[in-house]
Amino acid sequence: MQQLARALPKPVVLVPTMGALHQGHLALVDQAKKLAGRKGSTVATIFVNPTQFGPHEDYGKYPRPFERDCLLLRKRGCDLLFAPAPPSMYGPDASVTVTESQLETVMCGASRPGHFTGVCTVVTKLFHLVQPDLAIFGEKDFQQLAILRRMVRDLNFPVRIVGHPIVRELDGLALSSRNVYLSAEERQQAPVIQQALRTGEKELRTQSVSRQTLENLIRRQIERAPLAKVDYVAVADPETLRAKEPKELPVLLAAAVFFGATRLIDNILVK
Ligand code: PAJ
Repeated sequence: MQQLARALPKPVVLVPTMGALHQGHLALVDQAKKLAGRKGSTVATIFVNPTQFGPHEDYGKYPRPFERDCLLLRKRGCDLLFAPAPPSMYGPDASVTVTESQLETVMCGASRPGHFTGVCTVVTKLFHLVQPDLAIFGEKDFQQLAILRRMVRDLNFPVRIVGHPIVRELDGLALSSRNVYLSAEERQQAPVIQQALRTGEKELRTQSVSRQTLENLIRRQIERAPLAKVDYVAVADPETLRAKEPKELPVLLAAAVFFGATRLIDNILVK
């Protein structure tokens, strides 16, 4: 892959994914094509990365519609797809990982120990294999984006990280490969996450409110959906991801919510 990557016309723009592609992923590919311009190259990767899944998470059942993904990428005009098999990415005695140690201690990192080390390690490997000039990540995974920016900054990766806004269904639910797990009833209730975050944003914009009050307001609205179980609600500083009193903007409102075994995340950055 490294040899092939070196021959690609520059700039090389990378879109890392775990496949089961939806319009959110494809919007990232569209942006990659724009940034690559006529001369450059767009590279997508599909790799369901085992090291970012916890032992009781959905690695085994994660959807892998590979043929369909290939077609979608081809139709979108992606120049190259890199889809390695797990054994070619991790030797049985692989013993080096990449860990960000501050931003990962809160939010999803607190609920999913080891997850972001898995993400940082695999993205480091993908960067070394593809050697992109730019890489695009979605703001849906706000904490992932923040951690990868930090990794690139602190370890001097010669890659520019570009964020892409969240792509949503018409009813507000953020697109996710995991939405296919939802039952009809869960799917109907899932937009409550976005609605509750919007309520929080309105509250924050119209009156002075404490962080605790705002978190409770968002949490209570989500819990009104009978099938929703809140993992966390965060009112945080978008740079440090630490809890922040929402007196001054910008403020990140973020939530993770279980519907059955399916864990969904969403956020709003209030600027
Ligand atoms: P995956 O969940 O497949 O997502 C791939 C990229 O698509 C990520 O940058 C994610 O933020 C973005 N994305 C997903 N849903 C989106 C939506 N509704 N709107 C905008 N962007 C969206 O994130 C991962 O894979 C992995 O952790 C990865 C970075 C590939 C490392 O394994």
